[in-house]
Amino acid sequence: MRVPVIAGNWKMYKTTEEAVSFLRAFLPLVADAKGVEIILAPPFTAISTVAELVRGSGVRVSSQNVHFAEEGAYTGEVSIRMLRDAGASHCIIGHSERRQYYAETDDSVNRKNRSVLAAGLTPIFCLGETLEQREAGNTFDVVETQLFGGLKDISAAEGPKVIVAYEPVWAIGTGKTATPEQAQDVHSFLRNRLKKLWGEASDSVRILYGGSVKPENIVSLMAKEDIDGALVGGACLAADSFAKIVKYK
Ligand code: 13P
Repeated sequence: MRVPVIAGNWKMYKTTEEAVSFLRAFLPLVADAKGVEIILAPPFTAISTVAELVRGSGVRVSSQNVHFAEEGAYTGEVSIRMLRDAGASHCIIGHSERRQYYAETDDSVNRKNRSVLAAGLTPIFCLGETLEQREAGNTFDVVETQLFGGLKDISAAEGPKVIVAYEPVWAIGTGKTATPEQAQDVHSFLRNRLKKLWGEASDSVRILYGGSVKPENIVSLMAKEDIDGALVGGACLAADSFAKIVKYK
């Protein structure tokens, strides 16, 4: 009932030329992929090139961040309208690297989620605990606070369009994946909390796992009931490994 989503976050990698050569290799590899939504999140500078090249392929394009204001004197920022104009349909919001290095808070994440939804784009809303928080036994408290903070004042009518991405910070770029059981525990907790927020409508919310996802571990992660897809970093930079993840079935 929930169509799986495999999203690739390029982070601060790839020029437009490198994006073009990635797509030349990647698109033929996934042309026959069925029953999965594929999303690519290039850096801002490559969004329009990627959107142009994926047209007709079913692959969707996401940004990695966005500003919540409609427009204004915000040097260095990019608005939702600009993203739509460039061809993006999704926005990654609240990635732990943005929370860690750019002082994103649950409040700014919430403003971004609300603006993006109001504009008809889809937020890919990220949350997850640090190693310290996990070791202190605070994982569930931390993700609950992030979840409710990020989704504050979003109704059951529009909320379920959000894609949630659980990315334990200790598993990002470390090669240390959460076990499928560790991930499932948090995903089922998040689904239960979403139910509190939005009732039955929360059944349709896709919850992705992110953190060292690779072709070797995608199958066991996707076998879990509440894992509806993946947000991939390092392993999405090469066409063949990302295509293998997309075609995990
Ligand atoms: P890695 O797959 O490199 O661990 O990165 C995950 C991530 O942060 C995706 O947004």
